[in-house]
Amino acid sequence: MTRPPPPATPQDALADAFRLLSRGVADRRSPFHTPTLATRGLDGAPDLRTVVLRGFDPATRLLRIHTDRRSAKAGEIAADPRAALHGYDAAAQVQIRIAGVASLHLDDATADAAWAASREMSRMCYATPHAPGAPVEEPPPAPQDAAAGRANFAAVTLRIDALDWLLLAAAGHRRARFAWDDAGALCAGWAAP
Ligand SMILES: Cc1cc2nc3c(=O)[nH]c(=O)nc-3n(C[C@H](O)[C@H](O)[C@H](O)COP(=O)(O)O)c2cc1C
Repeated sequence: MTRPPPPATPQDALADAFRLLSRGVADRRSPFHTPTLATRGLDGAPDLRTVVLRGFDPATRLLRIHTDRRSAKAGEIAADPRAALHGYDAAAQVQIRIAGVASLHLDDATADAAWAASREMSRMCYATPHAPGAPVEEPPPAPQDAAAGRANFAAVTLRIDALDWLLLAAAGHRRARFAWDDAGALCAGWAAP
């Protein structure tokens, strides 16, 4: 398979990263559909898990995932909203690392819209009477009443404040870093891989 030429400028690399993230939302076979989300555990140790990337808006740099508001990660984000997201696309040979600030949406318009757009199967995940991670005597049966899940559902948005893009290539690896300040101004540049 012929590879496309590598991005010539950091701006091209950022466009590549945003394209991969957008595809991650739209294409469930994309590796960026299931990135790894890292948070700071309540004891200060790092905590990470796979999540489904549900939304990405390049204009606001907001990523969106869905979770159970009773989960450990929801409590961790409430305590410290700094979070990181990682994915690696083996076909594109691109790793993306993101750092930003997460926001929990429980009963606002963002959560309502996310719930409304969720499929029955996804809603069912939140309808379990047990909080995620709660000890149980034996694996519980699958829940049946998807509507009951809304009370436990949360949308989480992650604003991208920094992004690290790494392309592996025989002709030379390429790495670019991006950071946005509070006013949204972008600082972009190449970095040694
Ligand atoms: C492929 C895959 C996709 C997942 N997607 C989600 C998700 O979108 N949201 C979520 O809360 N957990 C998701 N999980 C489960 C989490 O990885 C994790 O086990 C669970 O949320 C509990 O994490 P916590 O205890 O750190 O909160 C997914 C797991 C896998 C394997």
